[in-house]
Amino acid sequence: MSIMNKHGLLERHSLLLTIGILVVVSIGGLIQMAPLAYMDNTIEKVDGMRPYTPLELMGRDIYIREGCYVCHSQMVRPLRDEVERYGHYSLAAESMYDHPFQWGSKRTGPDLARVGGKYSAEWQVDHLKDPRALVPESVMPPYAFLADKKLNYDRIEERLRTERMLGVPYTDEMIENAAGHIYAQADPDEKGYDYLDSLIEEYDGIAGRDGSVEYRDYDGDRTRVTEMDAIVAYLQMTGTLVDFSTYEANDLSNRR
Ligand code: HEC
Repeated sequence: MSIMNKHGLLERHSLLLTIGILVVVSIGGLIQMAPLAYMDNTIEKVDGMRPYTPLELMGRDIYIREGCYVCHSQMVRPLRDEVERYGHYSLAAESMYDHPFQWGSKRTGPDLARVGGKYSAEWQVDHLKDPRALVPESVMPPYAFLADKKLNYDRIEERLRTERMLGVPYTDEMIENAAGHIYAQADPDEKGYDYLDSLIEEYDGIAGRDGSVEYRDYDGDRTRVTEMDAIVAYLQMTGTLVDFSTYEANDLSNRR
């Protein structure tokens, strides 16, 4: 019997064919999965990551609510053209506190994984209010209403507690002072002043360095904290946490 005839046997017996398919497919699956079982951690060890401050987290919720991800990805691929345009390719560690992550694949607009600090906060506010005032050919819709909407953070403590359930290392102090931290970050000169030290101490503490939290009145309205404050606080910190001067991609000690 030639080998071709044996193949005929497989084709005529569906059960045998099914078993054959399963065997072949599992070889491919095993090759993908086996290496993961030998790694203690698939997230590289980096310096500088910390959870989002309550203001940044609320800004991120607004980003998701407004569907910014429909036009913007947040993942710099490890390809030369991307790295030259946007900066260091994204690391798994950079989305370790993201629920859900915003990697995405649709890019009507540019990738935003490293937009933090690329422009001033004033630019971000003006651009969100009227994108075409700054980039005449832009197809991005205006979001001026964010500056008129007072940020509703009545349930911020529950929000942080939920993140903690998912593994984000918020401390009891961070949760207790969350509302104060929002004020401190968006308008450090006024009501939030009392909370500024604790905001900086807590979040820089986890980041393991100074200056991981930017605090300022983002939208130019000192009288209240708006949704614009929150979303710009979030945009201005995306991709800025990891200290790439201490990160060595090929250093195996990164694989804990
Ligand atoms: C319909 C698609 C679309 C949506 C929805 C959209 N954008 Fe954009 N965005 C663009 C385009 C196109 C550009 C590039 C032109 C420009 O700068 O306006 C852009 C540019 C940007 C930039 C500047 C990026 C850079 O590196 O120059 C930021 C920041 C930004 N968008 C934030 C947002 C945020 C935040 C939201 C949600 C509130 C949002 N976008 C929603 C299409 C969109």
